[in-house]
Amino acid sequence: MHNFAHSRLITPSTMENNNSPTQAAEHDQKIDPRNFDDMLAIVASIKEQVGEETARAELGIICGSGLGPIGDTVQNATILPYSKIPGFPTTHVVGHKGNMVFGQLGGKKVVCLQGRFHPYEHSMDLALCTLPVRVMHQLGVKVMIVSNAAGGINTVLRHGDLMLIKDHIFLPGLAGFSPLVGCNDPRFGARFVSVHDAYDKQLRQLAIDVGRRNNMTLYEGVYVMSGGPQYESPAEVSLFKTVGADALGMSTCHEVTVARQCGIKVLGFSLITNIANLDADQSVEVSHEEVLDIAKQAGERASRFVSDIIQELTI
Ligand code: HPA
Repeated sequence: MHNFAHSRLITPSTMENNNSPTQAAEHDQKIDPRNFDDMLAIVASIKEQVGEETARAELGIICGSGLGPIGDTVQNATILPYSKIPGFPTTHVVGHKGNMVFGQLGGKKVVCLQGRFHPYEHSMDLALCTLPVRVMHQLGVKVMIVSNAAGGINTVLRHGDLMLIKDHIFLPGLAGFSPLVGCNDPRFGARFVSVHDAYDKQLRQLAIDVGRRNNMTLYEGVYVMSGGPQYESPAEVSLFKTVGADALGMSTCHEVTVARQCGIKVLGFSLITNIANLDADQSVEVSHEEVLDIAKQAGERASRFVSDIIQELTI
């Protein structure tokens, strides 16, 4: 499925063997993710490197574990590694590539993030982890598709199932770890953001229609984000079940919160990679290898489905 036939990889000729000291220093440049002008400087650097026209995008995709293959199907792809963007965070999670991919999908101008930023990797600096969403907004993104790997809580869910996210429980956000905490520059958007419609109803209906036409089993449910990186104990999973969650993971809600502050519409999916333990007497170990393995097996199918949705999307 890897199709970079007409792709362009942004790699300065001076960089033979990963980052030269100067480039590493540039990338490590400290920025304040809560500073609007610092964010604009990142946008300017991206435009300069890939070109203003290439950088313009209407659809943003955050490929979590599972939707990675979709980034590989972008047409006329221009690939900008995160390591070339001064001040941009980096991802260290196995299975996350760390590229911005610009190009076309289903006739739309897209920017794909191959690799996202989990709060547990960045000392719970959620503003830093969501910086790419604000950058995407500046590039013109109006609709964002997010995906994640998740543990199934609802007992109907099986390995490899796809769950459309209807609503979320942003546990770190409820505990004060929100990307919106701190002094708010009004250029970012409203101080108090309504998330009553975080996952756009029309986009969900489109996904359901496409799923029906493709004879796909598609669930719809509530996603809960925990802080991680430890997986949850059976008692914690039971708690989430009691409060109405269907699937659980360690990402997405912070990105969706910022997208809503910017006015970006969101469509979200969870790829069920493991069944979360509800009973300590019958629990089994959850491993990242299992998560990656299932994500890999089911990812191609999920990516094809999302491509079909993009085809029918009107932005
Ligand atoms: N818990 C948290 N995050 C996850 C899980 C899980 O069970 N599976 C995949 N990501």
